[in-house]
Amino acid sequence: MVRVLVTGGAGFIGHNLALYLADRGYDVVVYDSLERASKLGVIKVRKKGIPVIVGDVRDEGKLKSSLRDVDVVVHAAAYVDVEESFRKPLMYFNNNVLGTFSTVKCSVESNVGFVVYLSSAAVYGEPKYLPIDEKHPLEPISPYGLSKLMGEYVLNFYSRVYGLKYAILRIFNVYGPGQTGSYAGVVSKFIKRVKKGLPPIIYGDGFQTRDFIYVDDVSEAIRLVIEKRVCDVFNVASGKEISINRLAEIILKISRLEIKPIYEAARPGDIGHSVADISKIVKVLGFKPKVCLESGLRKLLNITYLDTV
Ligand SMILES: NC(=O)c1ccc[n+]([C@@H]2O[C@H](COP(=O)([O-])OP(=O)(O)OC[C@H]3O[C@@H](n4cnc5c(N)ncnc54)[C@H](O)[C@@H]3O)[C@@H](O)[C@H]2O)c1
Repeated sequence: MVRVLVTGGAGFIGHNLALYLADRGYDVVVYDSLERASKLGVIKVRKKGIPVIVGDVRDEGKLKSSLRDVDVVVHAAAYVDVEESFRKPLMYFNNNVLGTFSTVKCSVESNVGFVVYLSSAAVYGEPKYLPIDEKHPLEPISPYGLSKLMGEYVLNFYSRVYGLKYAILRIFNVYGPGQTGSYAGVVSKFIKRVKKGLPPIIYGDGFQTRDFIYVDDVSEAIRLVIEKRVCDVFNVASGKEISINRLAEIILKISRLEIKPIYEAARPGDIGHSVADISKIVKVLGFKPKVCLESGLRKLLNITYLDTV
């Protein structure tokens, strides 16, 4: 049985991934400081019998003792709030870059066979062309994006110098159950307000576009890369572009609410348009996103299990 340790495994993507892998026969361990965990996610993970080790990835002693007999590390632990990263760039550098350094160093020293790094579309910055493929220039426009890119360099270094086997997944906008509080993405924020009968708040004119992917599709992409152990960089997204105005419209339609969104000033670090070219992951790993946006949103609106509600 493949033993997988998920750093940040109590967070939004991490706990959904831990449950997904456990359901498919993997031996999963969660390692998380719990600082920004999904409380309901942690309950679900523990209920499933998945061990939760409470620790910071920068605590080398604790992490190394947790890595005995681990075959694969999925590194999801990070701070993920773009807006906060502008206010506290050093905190993002410290947690995300040093956290990745420590995770990778400890993995190499513990003979972990494969590391999957959850990177972000934020490493690309403002798109120079669409759809964004993996060869797109890497010019992040937020301290968060920079910290994720520096993490990629750490993996690359450990691979060249110490023979680390790794994959980088550049994930676009993820939505699904268990997205936490103020760090949640736009989908969870809209749903939180709509469930209270309040209009969604749109920053900017709403014509900006994003590429949304349901969290179980992200988990499947991670499972595929674990199975095939392909050492490469992949975009993980739906490959479909949708405007924030359209997103709000669909959520309001499903909720049968006859209200209009509120518009506020655009935020720094927000790019204009984004959509991924996913042909590489489709071709190399056989990945196929299963959940279309409308059915994903329907699922989410019917789920009571949302930390944000
Ligand atoms: N959510 C998205 O749309 C998205 C998109 C692209 C990439 N990603 C990447 O996916 C990963 C997971 O994101 P998420 O949305 O689940 O975030 P999240 O904030 O919900 O989860 C992150 C988890 O990591 C933990 N953590 C943070 N720093 C830690 C540390 N030093 N040691 C141990 N645990 C620590 C937190 O407690 C939290 O449980 C991140 O690396 C993020 O950059 C997320």
